[in-house]
Amino acid sequence: MKQGIWKVNSTKENSVEIIRTRSELQARVRAWKQAGETVGFVPTMGALHEGHLSLIEKAKEKVTRTVASIFVNPAQFAPGEDFDTYPRREAEDIAKLASVNCTAVYLPSVAEMYPEGSVTNVRVESLSDLLDGIYRPHFFYGVATVVARLFLHAQPDVAVFGEKDYQQLQVIRRMVRDLGFPIEIIGGETKRDADGLAQSSRNLYLSPEERRAAGAIFAAMHRASVRLALGALPSEALKEAEGHIVTAGFRKIDYVTLVDPATLQALPADEPMKEGAVVRLLAAAWLGKTRLIDNISVTR
Ligand code: PAF
Repeated sequence: MKQGIWKVNSTKENSVEIIRTRSELQARVRAWKQAGETVGFVPTMGALHEGHLSLIEKAKEKVTRTVASIFVNPAQFAPGEDFDTYPRREAEDIAKLASVNCTAVYLPSVAEMYPEGSVTNVRVESLSDLLDGIYRPHFFYGVATVVARLFLHAQPDVAVFGEKDYQQLQVIRRMVRDLGFPIEIIGGETKRDADGLAQSSRNLYLSPEERRAAGAIFAAMHRASVRLALGALPSEALKEAEGHIVTAGFRKIDYVTLVDPATLQALPADEPMKEGAVVRLLAAAWLGKTRLIDNISVTR
């Protein structure tokens, strides 16, 4: 593959620089910073949708230059998961980034991210072992490792992650705090389709029939959040939500749970939320072969 910085135009006005190596990215970022500019970073695995583009827009509110990365990270997939089939749409993604005036896209190879013989990993213990970490034990270790490496390549002032992956956002915040990365982490609101389904690259896996059923996960969570805000017992509201999700055609629920928004520790199921409390309702469930996750904030 040809190296170097390239510009791709999606329209006459918009162009995005294509950068494939760490040294080029670091040189580019250094030059921007020397010129007094600030840099926002949005790491992605591609197959971009409106949710990703809204994260670029969010970064643009804070900084003068934005860099998105597209890298399908092998370290966060276990054998048998969807690494090989994960959607890869480089040309489309670049055009989408250009359409929102993203300054540059970083497209590293596996060797660029994990140089031969590389054995250094990042483990954010505890937060990585709950919830999704129980079902995908490798996952957050792979995420923390690649995000730490991407941060060192991009050296941004600000990085934006979607709240759709709420546990991931908390893991990254904790890593940044513990390791002292001088980067402000910002959460971007989840973008939803008309029926409430959270936008995700993995929604592309859903058959038309599954897609029709998929909105039920948000509908069930929304109904539970209203009941909880009115003082229902979590055990009852969550059980009802699980019932709605199963009735809609989901084949297996990994969890529907109410947690402390910062620590992700489960809250008591047998007492109503306290007046003024703000908690997080999270769910993960399987529709056919696709695992969907979602979360919403609940305030009493
Ligand atoms: O959320 C994602 O797309 C990925 O987990 C991330 C943060 C880009 C790391 O590979």
